[in-house]
Amino acid sequence: MTLYNPEHTKKYYNEYADKETERWNTSIVEQVKLYIHNHYLKKHIAPGDKVLELGAGTGIFTEPLSEVSGTLVVTDLSPVQLEINRSRAHKLGYSDQVDSWELADICDLSQFEEESFDKIVCYGGPLSYVFDKRDEALSEIRRVLRPNGTALLSVMNLWGTVDQVLEPILQTVSEDDNSKIIASGNLHPSSHAVSDHHCHLFRAESLRETFQNNAFEIITLSASNCLATKRADALEVLEQDPEKWQHFLNLEIQACVSPGMVESGTHMIAVIKRTESTS
Ligand SMILES: C[S@@+](CC[C@H](N)C(=O)[O-])C[C@H]1O[C@@H](n2cnc3c(N)ncnc32)[C@H](O)[C@@H]1O
Repeated sequence: MTLYNPEHTKKYYNEYADKETERWNTSIVEQVKLYIHNHYLKKHIAPGDKVLELGAGTGIFTEPLSEVSGTLVVTDLSPVQLEINRSRAHKLGYSDQVDSWELADICDLSQFEEESFDKIVCYGGPLSYVFDKRDEALSEIRRVLRPNGTALLSVMNLWGTVDQVLEPILQTVSEDDNSKIIASGNLHPSSHAVSDHHCHLFRAESLRETFQNNAFEIITLSASNCLATKRADALEVLEQDPEKWQHFLNLEIQACVSPGMVESGTHMIAVIKRTESTS
């Protein structure tokens, strides 16, 4: 039986509504995560690209994508998230750069023709929400991506998340329940996780395997933050000096791709390229 329950995820995000936009502004550490996600967008999305954004949420990445893409199709599973995305684009004045807003589940992109996009952006964990359906999702992403096309994804990361919330875990989750969560990577009632936020937390190794099994070459695997994870106060001071701040951000980009650091932070970012063989 599959753990994926699109109705649960949809309801969760319908109720989460605009908190999604606020999430990135909650701390300087979140700002660093945003910088790193945007760094890869800037590096890989070329002017004029035909781009499909999956799980776009309220549009924190729709805005920068609208500035470069030739064609931009914005999708999400949640009608509430999609509507907020659309009204935010109108309010901030980039709605003309978006070709359409469409409801879509990453496991079923049948409304799109094969090989119809140069780039796909799937940031913020949609692949984590589909649990055991990840191969279906990647097969759909592969189908609608043109040959040699690139996809950028971010997923929830197991050990970086444990590191971030270790004290509450130790205080509120029993050792037995926690072992089930760690072994499966699943924040889900089947592994006795009590939160309403059901998702799979990846290890770097299983993420690499998932891409390789679905005929994707990994161009970059990066933590979404690493040096920044436990230094909020020091970063607030550093940010006041633009030169030192940029120096820090450059170091952070390098540290995040170091193989020993890739599981730091709450998310991993992957840039993957469609290869031509599924064998
Ligand atoms: C954490 S939010 C990320 C939003 C945005 N991409 C960002 O990074 O800020 C996850 C989004 O993925 C959407 N989502 C979850 N499962 C999905 C699925 N199977 N197909 C498409 N979207 C999905 C949710 O509705 C939500 O808007």
